[in-house]
Amino acid sequence: MTGDDQRDESTQSAPDAPPSKKDVLCTAVELAGRAPSLYNAQPWSWKVNDEDAELFLDATQSFPVTDPDMREARIGCGASLHHLQVAVTAAGWAHESQLSSGLEARLLAQVRLTDPIEADPAALRLAQAISLRHNDRRPFSTQPVSADALAALQAAVDDEGVHLQVVTHDDRIWLSILSERAAALQGSREGYSEELARVTGANDASPNIPTDEIPHVVSPRHTDVTLRDFDTHVDWVRAGEALSRLLLNATERGLATGIQSQPVEVAMIRIQIDEHLLSGLGHAQVLVRIGWPGTTNVAAGPDPQQG
Ligand SMILES: Cc1cc2nc3c(=O)[nH]c(=O)nc-3n(C[C@H](O)[C@H](O)[C@H](O)COP(=O)(O)O)c2cc1C
Repeated sequence: MTGDDQRDESTQSAPDAPPSKKDVLCTAVELAGRAPSLYNAQPWSWKVNDEDAELFLDATQSFPVTDPDMREARIGCGASLHHLQVAVTAAGWAHESQLSSGLEARLLAQVRLTDPIEADPAALRLAQAISLRHNDRRPFSTQPVSADALAALQAAVDDEGVHLQVVTHDDRIWLSILSERAAALQGSREGYSEELARVTGANDASPNIPTDEIPHVVSPRHTDVTLRDFDTHVDWVRAGEALSRLLLNATERGLATGIQSQPVEVAMIRIQIDEHLLSGLGHAQVLVRIGWPGTTNVAAGPDPQQG
């Protein structure tokens, strides 16, 4: 469902009039559609009303083998929700959001516009990052990300009630090994190759993701782990909001980002990550590589393991 679908003649503003709330929301929904999602499935649908927009989980975009409880689908929806909030703020509107579990009628969130506000430059820069961000699967430059930049990103994620754990060099190697184990375990699951074929377009002329652009963990320069203290349906949406905030803030700083989820898709590997990296204090939701963009145009790694 796009913003264009929502506009009708009765609600369109006259040329010189300020855009109506509905117009603002329609434009924001277009930007919300650029959020990252597992296998680029975009498992959300937006309904725009006169004063608010409602976010629904689109259960037709599910991957029962990769994401059996639709945890990652909800993370994608949370990212789309945060994109919409950023767009609305940049358009000069304060808003209130209410989250729901999605268990009833698949409604995950409602965002209501309240009062016009002065759009500040920081909000505009974050909104611009929506169009600049992309999931970078290439090797990153060897230039390190400064401790100050990582601390600022951690603070932004903390602000969303989610923790960003920066992992050490040794832990990155350990994670690469776990990632290979996860790939082997997942690859042997019944139905996994069919699911992968569906998204890589083995049976399709227009795939979600080209096969050669789906590696798992490959020589990460900086791998960070986002997590929450709890692991409920609403927590997953919140983790998605925090993920979006992390990615947009990093993009605004000129940093490249790449999401990797395979290790946390395999329950026994996720438990090891929770215990070893997070001291049992939370649940890992996704891994994110953060670094300075590399110079090569070649996609990182030939293994079509994950999307
Ligand atoms: C929950 C989640 C898990 C993801 N897992 C992976 C992954 O394991 N490997 C990968 O290359 N990309 C992964 N992605 C990134 C998507 O493939 C990417 O967002 C999508 O293809 C759209 O591309 P874009 O982010 O450049 O717009 C994930 C994204 C989300 C939200």
